Amino acid sequence: MSWRREGRRIGLVPTMGYLHDGHLSLVRRARKAVGSDGRVVVSIYVNPTQFSPTEDLSAYPRDLKNDLKRCREYGADQVFVPRDEVMYAGRESSCYSTFVTEEQLGRSMEGKSRPVHFRGVTTVVAKLFNIVLPDIAVFGAKDWQQAAIVKRMVKDLNFPVRVIVNPTVREKDGLAMSSRNAYLSAEERPQANVLWKSIKLARETVRDSETAIPASRLKRKIEALMKSHPLGRLDYVEFFDPETLEISRQIKRGTHMALAVFFNKARLIDNGRL
Ligand code: PAF
Repeated sequence: MSWRREGRRIGLVPTMGYLHDGHLSLVRRARKAVGSDGRVVVSIYVNPTQFSPTEDLSAYPRDLKNDLKRCREYGADQVFVPRDEVMYAGRESSCYSTFVTEEQLGRSMEGKSRPVHFRGVTTVVAKLFNIVLPDIAVFGAKDWQQAAIVKRMVKDLNFPVRVIVNPTVREKDGLAMSSRNAYLSAEERPQANVLWKSIKLARETVRDSETAIPASRLKRKIEALMKSHPLGRLDYVEFFDPETLEISRQIKRGTHMALAVFFNKARLIDNGRL
């Protein structure tokens, strides 16, 4: 609060911890946006309401000691690590019953595969905004649909927060950095860049064509590519308008693509502009 009274701009980087270089780039982006007098807050909270009972909440990788060390290295001014009691009156509590739901952009892709996911995300992000009172908040482009939904929530509910979407940070072979990459076995890891290869394949196909390409044809190409990465199982691949997330049937330059692939217990997502 005193930061606000002092007129400092506050930047929030919401995370679920197990921090990696992708998070570092979000902190750097927040620092740039708030300026040298501003303050950057990193929140670390594995939000239970965005996991369905069959998902990986209990297995989700956690290492708070190392995260706090990394936050110091990243130059975060404050780390907010709330407990379930603070956020939801306790994990199993029947004393919590208010949720924020975005009703349009969250129906497809991740929302279809993970039905409670976005309700949990919008609820926790709204709560973090109300607690931290940031001027800006930085989200990663790897979760493209999430970022679009948060932007819509901010607009619809008049949060005085500027949402910044920061580019995805990738490993050398193109795999998008994610805390969930920690689940990959030594055999799975070399195949996990199939998501990035799929995006590049679709991009090249679209850019080499003078006319729009049916989504079904691109999907077949990606399914064929998946066959040479047999440890991965395609959950979905979708083509859509990058702003409205409206699904496209005829794909051309500028269409956005997103996909999700299971590698045993790791479910990886990625996206890119074609
Ligand atoms: O992207 C994430 O890490 C989470 O969905 C978020 C935004 C921190 C909300 O729990």
